[in-house]
Amino acid sequence: MAVRINDIAPDFTAESTAGTIRFHDWLGDSYGIIFSHPRDFTPVCTTEFAAVAQLAAEWQKRKTKVIGVSVDGVSDHEKWKRDIEAFGGAPADFPIIDDTSLTVAKAYDMLPAEFYLPTEGRTPAHSATVRTVYIIGPDKKVRLTMTYPMSVGRNFAEILRALDAVQKTDGVPLATPANWVPGQDVIVALALNNEQATERFGELDIKLPYLRFAKV
Ligand code: BEZ
Repeated sequence: MAVRINDIAPDFTAESTAGTIRFHDWLGDSYGIIFSHPRDFTPVCTTEFAAVAQLAAEWQKRKTKVIGVSVDGVSDHEKWKRDIEAFGGAPADFPIIDDTSLTVAKAYDMLPAEFYLPTEGRTPAHSATVRTVYIIGPDKKVRLTMTYPMSVGRNFAEILRALDAVQKTDGVPLATPANWVPGQDVIVALALNNEQATERFGELDIKLPYLRFAKV
């Protein structure tokens, strides 16, 4: 079954490049991003993991732990990390889960509609997980999901922007407009009338009765 926004992110115990991970314990009170990719030692995946590695300081600034998943084993992940660093110029210091059992892939519904994964003789054509992303809040609830096909590399600048938007609006009656980036005005939820909204967020920029911006 699909993992939906507001579901508790499935908990699991798995081996990883950082040892045994008990997922919820590992998250602690941080935000988390768990993302899957089809295979180690493949071109698009290498560019994606390099992009995540290059953003290490940004994840840390946002108190967000990142963790990768694939159906390859830890020893492959360890070898592949060297290629990621050689390509991207930054160490892939985040854990990568060994999901050869497909436990995590199935719990998070990371598999495409049709997949075939032989136990032996696997090649990159036998990819399993597609490119999924789950942003998880400190309460362990899923805040955002996205799924890209195998042929389309993700835009991690967008994932960072979406994380900023999630953190900006978490637990407050605010929302971000289309194409919002940090520093821009945000939308005040309709749950507040104009007076309540002004009292809480200061002067409003009222474009339409139901579209009111505030500088927050
Ligand atoms: C890639 O990331 O480039 C890739 C992944 C799976 C199969 C083929 C290519």
